[in-house]
Amino acid sequence: MGKCPGCDLWNSFFEGHLKKEVPNLKKENLKSIKLLDCLDHKEFQKIEISNKEIAKIFGGGIVDSSTSLLCGEPGIGKSTFLLMLCQSIFEKNKNKKILYVSSEENEFEVAQRARRLNINNKNLLLLNEASIQSIRNVILSLEPILIVIDSIQTTYSEEVSAPLGSIIQIKDVVQNIQHLAKEKKMAFILVGHITKDGQNAGPKTLEHLVDSVFRLERKNKSPIREFKSLKNRYGKTDITSFFEMKENGLFPVERFNKRIFFNRLESKFGSCFGFQLLNEHLLLFEIEALVVENKNSFGKRICYGIENTRVQILVAIIEKYFDLKLSYFDIFLNIKSDFTLNSRESDLCIIMAILSSYHKLCFNLNTCFVGEVGLLGDISEIELDPEISNKIIREGITQLITNTQESPNKLLSILKINNIEQLRVYFQKKAPLLFCSDNR
Ligand code: TYD
Ligand code: MG
Repeated sequence: MGKCPGCDLWNSFFEGHLKKEVPNLKKENLKSIKLLDCLDHKEFQKIEISNKEIAKIFGGGIVDSSTSLLCGEPGIGKSTFLLMLCQSIFEKNKNKKILYVSSEENEFEVAQRARRLNINNKNLLLLNEASIQSIRNVILSLEPILIVIDSIQTTYSEEVSAPLGSIIQIKDVVQNIQHLAKEKKMAFILVGHITKDGQNAGPKTLEHLVDSVFRLERKNKSPIREFKSLKNRYGKTDITSFFEMKENGLFPVERFNKRIFFNRLESKFGSCFGFQLLNEHLLLFEIEALVVENKNSFGKRICYGIENTRVQILVAIIEKYFDLKLSYFDIFLNIKSDFTLNSRESDLCIIMAILSSYHKLCFNLNTCFVGEVGLLGDISEIELDPEISNKIIREGITQLITNTQESPNKLLSILKINNIEQLRVYFQKKAPLLFCSDNR
């Protein structure tokens, strides 16, 4: 800067640096620093659960002083699940009190559900209250080991004047609960609503505030409920427990995949079967594809249960490796399954269902296609141990088209393919292993 705008003098500015005052480090501050190596490894105290399927997802038990969130769409079975959890905890902790706070339903509705579930629990106490301050007073006098709050959106704090269910209300209620959990070493489970697009209702910070987040899900009208762990400060998150909703409660699933081959006696073009391995379970699904010519515009891609962008990529792979022009074809896709599928191992199955509809060729009913397909046409490898092979055979599958080692079981034949190029050769030669005899 040449001229000073204040006094009109030239070259009167000089560069200088301000010195910041740094407070002196006091010796007391150093006392709170600890050497990680010298700290004892402290095991968390867990509240035991008798139901093995429920215990599995909590990592064996519910950690005391923890706050968990259970979310799911209305009517999925959150209140049912939590009453059953209370019963399951009672069976292992007969002298300890459990408090079920219902701010959503009145006590008669909860009692009716408990009767339907055959709940026989002398230490399960019911409180129909929505104010967190009143709930706190009851908790302090009862000292239960576990408190269920059904639901967090219908509980409010008297210290905040914001409307019920608002972000400020939910935050204040959760903070009150957290203090209580840590102070009194009690475990809390909060029920949370989800919005129409499947997100947890309320502030995203709610998920950050709590120690664990669990979710109940179901596919379409399936009676099967998937209990998933989305966040767990004290355990694993890649576990799913499965329950079947029956007349009197949620029970472990007796027979998976019951409805998949139901009513399907003959092969149909556009249909292809596959499976996903989740924990120790084999989850079957069917991909239905309908490919029809569309002369007027660029082809539509309408998909139910499958991400649209993923389908666009798979269609591009078909165009490239099978030399097909699909832009003037509409493609409709549907996934039929009793479970929510999240693995990419259905890629190969989607490709084959599209080809099956396009060429009007049917695959054998007892054949499954499994594998994630990369942009370069590579097919990912899957691991087959004897136990999984036995499960596959038990479902009536005798042929597998995938990238894996030799079959551990003679009853299951395997056509090993590493990439789409190999599959194209089999497909164009109409390899008998792939196709239904009516096609040939
Ligand atoms: P509920 O636990 O009230 O769901 P949420 O708390 O998530 O809203 O369960 C609702 C549905 O479950 C309801 O449609 C009835 C059904 N149900 C059964 O099929 N069997 C049962 O034993 C119970 C208790 C409920
Ligand atoms: Mg409910």
